[in-house]
Amino acid sequence: MSAKFKRKNKDQRRYYSLSSLVDDDSKRSEFLRLFPEITEELLNKINSFCRKSDYFLVEENGALALFDDNKYYFIDLESEFNYHKSFYQNRGYKKEELYKALKSDQMQVVDVTGGFLGDSILLVFWGFYVETYEANPIQSALILNALKRFPIKNFTFHPFEFRGVRAHSVKEDSVIYYDPFFRKKKEKTEPNKNILMLREFDKFDFLKLEDFRSFKLVVKRPIKGNPVYPNPDYSLKTKSIRYDVYLTKLNN
Ligand SMILES: C[S@@+](CC[C@H](N)C(=O)[O-])C[C@H]1O[C@@H](n2cnc3c(N)ncnc32)[C@H](O)[C@@H]1O
Repeated sequence: MSAKFKRKNKDQRRYYSLSSLVDDDSKRSEFLRLFPEITEELLNKINSFCRKSDYFLVEENGALALFDDNKYYFIDLESEFNYHKSFYQNRGYKKEELYKALKSDQMQVVDVTGGFLGDSILLVFWGFYVETYEANPIQSALILNALKRFPIKNFTFHPFEFRGVRAHSVKEDSVIYYDPFFRKKKEKTEPNKNILMLREFDKFDFLKLEDFRSFKLVVKRPIKGNPVYPNPDYSLKTKSIRYDVYLTKLNN
């Protein structure tokens, strides 16, 4: 989930096309100065990932957005938290299917597909300790910037990592949460428009289940989508979403 980038004074926005961040040294240094949370290494990853001149990274009052097709996409964690606060003010969350799928004695979740942090933030709000990975470097930059503006407790973020998520780096008794892009057209639940746009950058393989044999794994799927891995131990369903649960620990 992401909020629209809609501040008042458009003139104060600074635009950096992805190609200018490769070709124009002064633009590149200016960008790195404005966003100290974005390392040169991350910027290099962004550049090797995509150099399209029609994608722009945009700065306004310290916030970073991705600009595409006349829309701004950025992560607004404060609004997200406030939204959850008012949504859950008079109702419990312990019967939510995602909560039930992920809860454990440790309440420790590793979210391997951070995206716009929608699920990660909801889990922190529900009282989980969350460690999040994200492979896409642009998405990682948006996340790092969002966390700089609104730091989150009980939350750790690992930028541009995916293959780096290995069982040995994951705390024992964590539950792994995996929300890959829905890939087939017939998988009816439409992803958000912003996620459709970022699909262009979706070049990652599915997580290898063998790597996580010793963990419980929860995979988010569209209600009628095929399971990513065969034979989930059980599934929890909402109207449009299914959470396939693999008790891989027990299957060893
Ligand atoms: C569907 S989005 C996750 C949305 C996230 N749960 C949220 O609430 O915002 C998938 C994200 O995982 C990342 N990703 C990393 N590895 C992936 C993989 N193997 N397959 C699909 N997506 C992957 C993509 O870059 C993308 O940001």
